[in-house]
Amino acid sequence: MLITPKRPLFGCVAVPGDKSISHRALLFSALAEGDSHIQNFLSTGDCLSTMACLRRLGIDIDHHGTEVTVHGRGLHGLKAPTALLDCGNSGTTTRLLAGILCGCEFESTLDGDASLRRRPMERIITPLSQMGATVSGMGGCCPLTVRGGNLRPIHYQSPVASAQLKSAVLLAGLFADGETSVTEPALSRNHTELMLREMGAEVRIDGCTAAVRGLPTLHACDITVPGDISSAAFLIVATLILAESEIVLTNVGVNETRTGLLDVLREMGADIEIFNRRGGCEPVADLLVRASTLHGVKVGGDIIPRMIDEIPILAVAALFASGTTVIRDAEELKVKETNRLSAIAEELKKCGAHIETTADGLVIEGGHPLHAAAFSSHGDHRMAMSEAVLALRLDEPSAIDDFACAEISYPDFLGTIARLTEESL
Ligand code: S3P
Repeated sequence: MLITPKRPLFGCVAVPGDKSISHRALLFSALAEGDSHIQNFLSTGDCLSTMACLRRLGIDIDHHGTEVTVHGRGLHGLKAPTALLDCGNSGTTTRLLAGILCGCEFESTLDGDASLRRRPMERIITPLSQMGATVSGMGGCCPLTVRGGNLRPIHYQSPVASAQLKSAVLLAGLFADGETSVTEPALSRNHTELMLREMGAEVRIDGCTAAVRGLPTLHACDITVPGDISSAAFLIVATLILAESEIVLTNVGVNETRTGLLDVLREMGADIEIFNRRGGCEPVADLLVRASTLHGVKVGGDIIPRMIDEIPILAVAALFASGTTVIRDAEELKVKETNRLSAIAEELKKCGAHIETTADGLVIEGGHPLHAAAFSSHGDHRMAMSEAVLALRLDEPSAIDDFACAEISYPDFLGTIARLTEESL
């Protein structure tokens, strides 16, 4: 994909539905009694993997673009699959579904692509085994075979702030008689807790501890998925770094456990207004973003899980900020779709960036002259879109190989950029 430098961005856009919430809407609706209707569903790669797995488990799903109806079969309604469950590129599908399958009295196997097979599953195998399930992986990775049933509740002290891990344990906890809880070192996204509560489960949230009481009856719901703030992040940074840009992003999910990037960008001097706050259990708002003069910051600690998917695009913003940006406590980036710490440093250096990796983060010196380059996405959607935003500010067209992976979370990303530039003519 060849990306040419662009004029300012201008206009109003609604980003696609939130990936994390779309997964959960499908999975939890399958366990509910009755029909759940989902609107603004993210109808792409990872969430379609979740949908295909649920169909293999005997769930009927009507799917028309961004509208989905899931015919839930109740907590114990999943059927033994006749083939393996293909989770594609999706860590969320694998880990959340593994938690659910631990409650089911049959054997099933979860697998996926080469990137998924490299991602650590030991982190869920440990607590799920403590609950009484038999979960085995090849060297702690996929393919993962789960034999479930007969679970006991646990309290789990998680070594990492990970919503996928927390969710796997809480979902298994739905099938155990008593309270299952997870305490994390810092709070990760809480969509599982909020949606399970909305569906009638007894959920307790106390700081970094989340707990669920087992054997609830989940009731079907109408769920409108908010726009994905992790997708909005690319348009926000593009607007900030392209002089004279001004855009409005409508209907963006602004759950506090996801808005770390907004806080950091504002600290860097970004002009971002959050208005029209509304919504139910998942708050949404509109964002007004204007091109801004940015300065470097130090980022680390509890804010990292609140912006875990936004570090690649923050690194791009830091290139156009004066001074140095230091990102710490971000070692989890090493086990995403690719090792995002080394991949960001390797790719950004190609255009002349002053960026180095540290044991747990990145150091980026902004303000140096940059030039067009040939980037690789490393098959990672968030890398691909970060590079595309960077390319908008380079002197000549830049190439990105395997850009198609951006479809995983933002199918029409380049079309949206093109429309926003036309509006600025
Ligand atoms: C997700 C949680 C995060 C995030 C991923 C989606 C989720 O992963 O990086 O893109 O939907 O729960 P971890 O929980 O492993 O940090």
